[in-house]
Amino acid sequence: MTTTEPAPETTAWWTSAVVYQIYPRSFADSNGDGIGDLGGIRSKLDHLAELGVDVIWLSPIYRSPQADNGYDISDYEDIDPLFGTLEEFDLLLAEVHERGMKLVMDLVVNHTSDEHPWFIESRSSRDSPKRDWYIWRDPMEGHEPNGWTSAFSGPAWTLDPATGQYYLHLFAAKQPDLNWQNPEVRAAVFAMMNRWLDRGVDGFRMDVINFIAKTEAELVGESVQPSMGPQIHDYLREMHREVFAGRDTELITVGEMPGVTVEDAALFTGADREELDMVFQFEHVGLDHSDAGKFDNLAFDLVALKTSLARWQTGLASSGWNSLYFGNHDQPRSVSRFGDDACFRYESATLLAAILHLHRGTPYIYQGDEIGMTNAGFTTIEQYKDIESVNHYSEVVAGGADPAIVLEQMAFRSRDNARTPVQWTPGPQAGFTHAEPWIEVNLNADTINVQTDRAAADRSIFEFYRGLIALRHELAVVALGEFALLEPEHPTLYAFTRTLGSDRLLVVGNWSSEQLRLPQGLTDDAGTRLIGNYPEWDMQTLEPWEVRVYSRAERSGT
Ligand code: GLC
Ligand code: CA
Repeated sequence: MTTTEPAPETTAWWTSAVVYQIYPRSFADSNGDGIGDLGGIRSKLDHLAELGVDVIWLSPIYRSPQADNGYDISDYEDIDPLFGTLEEFDLLLAEVHERGMKLVMDLVVNHTSDEHPWFIESRSSRDSPKRDWYIWRDPMEGHEPNGWTSAFSGPAWTLDPATGQYYLHLFAAKQPDLNWQNPEVRAAVFAMMNRWLDRGVDGFRMDVINFIAKTEAELVGESVQPSMGPQIHDYLREMHREVFAGRDTELITVGEMPGVTVEDAALFTGADREELDMVFQFEHVGLDHSDAGKFDNLAFDLVALKTSLARWQTGLASSGWNSLYFGNHDQPRSVSRFGDDACFRYESATLLAAILHLHRGTPYIYQGDEIGMTNAGFTTIEQYKDIESVNHYSEVVAGGADPAIVLEQMAFRSRDNARTPVQWTPGPQAGFTHAEPWIEVNLNADTINVQTDRAAADRSIFEFYRGLIALRHELAVVALGEFALLEPEHPTLYAFTRTLGSDRLLVVGNWSSEQLRLPQGLTDDAGTRLIGNYPEWDMQTLEPWEVRVYSRAERSGT
């Protein structure tokens, strides 16, 4: 097959689609309780339609005690009253569809809440018919069965005194892991998924889905953790058969997979394998902190980032598909982490957007990134709400760490950086709520907000994103073109081409706050500039955080 004939899998609709992630509790509050909700989302759908995104992914809105902001589900069949009702969900879904967009639900089935009736039944006795729906083990010499640790600090096992056994939770004690080896568990999950698809949802983002298959211990950083078992492929194929078969071409499935390698990803996403459309990998967001812990910040290295992303581009070029992201609800704000949010916020936010969106894969925009929202700027522990951050702080401070240093690390790394309310307007609570918000609004909301950004004429980040999304919709080379990294060793230049038949795009970006002299000949014969973040430009020089996209063939379409 030549490069001009894309492989059949690359012609799926989602190759030219852009996904927008909503973290509902921080998006928009319609009923004045300080927590974002479905009414808030409904009131902002035009914002998303105008941006041009094709798919909306909602972080969990199911019934939940909210120990991990909804990633701890106690009823998969209902909407949490914090967010609304099933009736309101149906309205939202209809309004999304009316605007030509699709809606994807978060699927959290590695674990449930400990308040889910399945777990309540399971823990009730050793003979419970649902005992084996979770992972119970006898104590080992009076201690945990093994040394696995929870992602949210402490051991991954909690003793249930009533029955004298430990249950496994790779996350909080309030998030017991389901036992996927049990066929009844799988059948119950698949039936639930089918009900949501029958209701009209357009797919799933599957939370830590590679964790459902567990085998023996593996060393991860300083702790010993279960590794991904080979049964994962069987489970995903069974899911495909039981849930997606016959309707998968209209849907989109993306599996979140911490630790996944590009070789694994080619298997998970290979078109003929009937597993998933794409996965979220973590390699490129793990380069700036040590394996020992995500709060342990290392210097950022652009060469390492480029090398990693390019490996994924190549590794999934002939079979499989990439998902592209720089931020989400678990990561710091991308402009604060990778860009210069103090001196070149517009320039660096738009550069990051252009570089990401012009890779081959499906781009994901996290709420607020379309206006360049920044890290939270929290300075006291009381401001933090995230279970991971709060537990981490208690654990390391109890172990003797200097609280000031821990807070400094958290200001850079905490998940709450991305969870402050979306800034809609200048003024009280940034237009997010009329009440006290569940988490503080960023102090910069009067200058950074949707209203101000969209009015900023030629310096609107929103408008820049709109342009990028339109390019993906219009140009096959953006969706499907072959990727080639240029100047891989250059410490601040991010340059690559995309090629499809006689169409070629050249992307050059200056990943730094200093001017950059372009290597000789790089932009010779580059063609016309399609999009860029400076109104005027010099062929030989890139201004701080300047990015330009050149096209060498006639632009197809209008
Ligand atoms: C995923 C989610 C994260 C959550 C965890 C446990 O990584 O993205 O927010 O805390 O899984 O469900
Ligand atoms: Ca509300």
